[in-house]
Amino acid sequence: MLKRANKSKALHGPQKFPLPVLIATLVLILVILMFLFYKNNEKPDSSIGHLKQKWNSSEQFVQFHPTIELRNGTDMISQIPDSPRAILFLAHGCNGKAVNFWDSSDNCPMCIGLPEERLLVLHALSRKFAVLTISSAGRCWTLRKERLIVKDMIRWWVKRNKLENLPLVALGASSGGYFVSGLATDLKFSSITLMIAEGVFNQIDVTEDYPPTLFVHMPKDFFRQQKIREYMEVLRNKGIGVAEIECNPFPLSQSFLADRIPGLEKAVSAKLFELFRDKGFIDENGYMRSDGRQTPWKQALKENKSITVDKSLVHHVQEELNLAFAYHEMTSLQSEQIFKWFETHMS
Ligand SMILES: *[C@@H]1O[C@H](CO)[C@@H](O)[C@H](O)[C@H]1NC(C)=O
Ligand SMILES: *[C@@H]1O[C@H](CO)[C@@H](O)[C@H](O)[C@H]1NC(C)=O
Ligand SMILES: *[C@@H]1O[C@H](CO)[C@@H](O)[C@H](O)[C@H]1NC(C)=O
Repeated sequence: MLKRANKSKALHGPQKFPLPVLIATLVLILVILMFLFYKNNEKPDSSIGHLKQKWNSSEQFVQFHPTIELRNGTDMISQIPDSPRAILFLAHGCNGKAVNFWDSSDNCPMCIGLPEERLLVLHALSRKFAVLTISSAGRCWTLRKERLIVKDMIRWWVKRNKLENLPLVALGASSGGYFVSGLATDLKFSSITLMIAEGVFNQIDVTEDYPPTLFVHMPKDFFRQQKIREYMEVLRNKGIGVAEIECNPFPLSQSFLADRIPGLEKAVSAKLFELFRDKGFIDENGYMRSDGRQTPWKQALKENKSITVDKSLVHHVQEELNLAFAYHEMTSLQSEQIFKWFETHMS
């Protein structure tokens, strides 16, 4: 307060000042500007979303209260907010499961809450989307009978919950992206998002009523990027709305893992960052040198007795490392744009 008062006096005073006062004032202004600038810099760039968004339930109005049902040989986990505006079907990638999208809770003790999956659900719920997740029957989704089963399951769930009047949208990542691109010919989605997947547009009949399609992809995966370019052109030529969001690598920091993984302590996050730096897993600017899956970080961790990571969080760390490398991973960083896409195609 005092400093601000001084500053405004200095700025408004009509007399000339002795040189030391002038310099002191300039330094003060500079410090204030730097402070403001630093504050601004801390704000996450909206185009890549919120790196610091762990979004634990107590901080927000949204809480996990999922319902778990077994049907057609698989599990459906879902949650309907008050006054839902739309329905989001989420399809995981290979090795995924419905439990990955939800935090562990009394309703769902076996839920795992992977960092990106859970944030997608929280974003959806906060925007009043009812969320439906289903596990694939096998390791990955398949495109024939499973499509019909899931179509039935979604229809049954929508009807049972009397949500037939709401727009239905879908987001699928990787194998789930191929699956959703096919499912969009069986079910009426108002729009879809295909994440790190080019879709199966070489195998399906795309008509004019195919839903507007957003591709969220990682250009480091150059081959897939080429395919997406090609398929976007195919869709565009049929008059279907298309858009893309490119997800690029970003550097790790000491707090990065703690910022995104509930239950991972700041101190552990900082130690892991140091370990990755000492082992050369990240470069001098903090960028991952390889995909998390290709980085022997678990081995390095095992050999280091001074860092302990809860076994249940290893998969979570791996996911964030993959995300930072930005070659092939589920991402919630673009949630703002993804939900804007859904919301602008709901009429
Ligand atoms: C799914 O299960 C329901 C009953 O639980 C059954 O009526 C329906 O035929 C099944 N759908 C498929 C495609 O197997
Ligand atoms: C969740 O947020 C609250 C309030 O900011 C904080 O006190 C608590 O430690 C957080 N929990 C976790 C697991 O990060
Ligand atoms: C564990 O890793 C940290 C960070 O690389 C390092 O400073 C420390 O010496 C290691 N400790 C052991 C026991 O290897």
